[in-house]
Amino acid sequence: MNSTAAATSTVQPSHAARDAVRLIRDEHSRLAAVIHGMLHLTRQMAKTKVAPDLKVLRAMLFYISEYPERLHHPKEDQFLFARLRDRTHDFDGALDKLEAQHAQGEALVHKLEHMLIRLEFAGEQAYVPFMEMVEQYAEFYFGHMRVEEETIIPGAEQQLDQADWAAIGNAFAANTDPLEKKDLKGDFERLFTLIVNIAPAPIGLGDPVS
Ligand SMILES: [Fe+2]
Ligand SMILES: [Fe+2]
Repeated sequence: MNSTAAATSTVQPSHAARDAVRLIRDEHSRLAAVIHGMLHLTRQMAKTKVAPDLKVLRAMLFYISEYPERLHHPKEDQFLFARLRDRTHDFDGALDKLEAQHAQGEALVHKLEHMLIRLEFAGEQAYVPFMEMVEQYAEFYFGHMRVEEETIIPGAEQQLDQADWAAIGNAFAANTDPLEKKDLKGDFERLFTLIVNIAPAPIGLGDPVS
């Protein structure tokens, strides 16, 4: 086998890599679905001047606050990013930025939670600022996931070995809180189902906003 062929063969993702990447992308898809739902609801709200059922917005905010903070980001930091750093320094700059964004994302969500409380009291005048903050958050978080999917995952597929991917896959598949030993994934599945059931059509199964 010549050196080019050997180099090419090392970048074929293994089963373990494919399984782990699928789990990471699934988590991104769930988060993206909830963020798209929030965008849709708040754009409607700003346009029609009619507030949606605030329970839906609260559930969505709770999801995008708790899910990344308690499950998704720790697994990225401790497994995917840490293993990639162990193998190469090529991605250190991007990883530093992504880790900083994990903290920034939490701060933005907390700001949104505060703004939602304000919206409940201030009414119509708070609709547009709230929507703009959701737009800002969506742009920020979609950009974050794009770097992970387009730069970090392909980089990891080149650099990490079978054992690395097995460890990453196990971490993402387990999804239990290491301290509380709770089935957090099950809790979030139920919350996601609740959001789908109460969000108005076309984003969920609830009654459309009139
Ligand atoms: Fe991330
Ligand atoms: Fe991520």
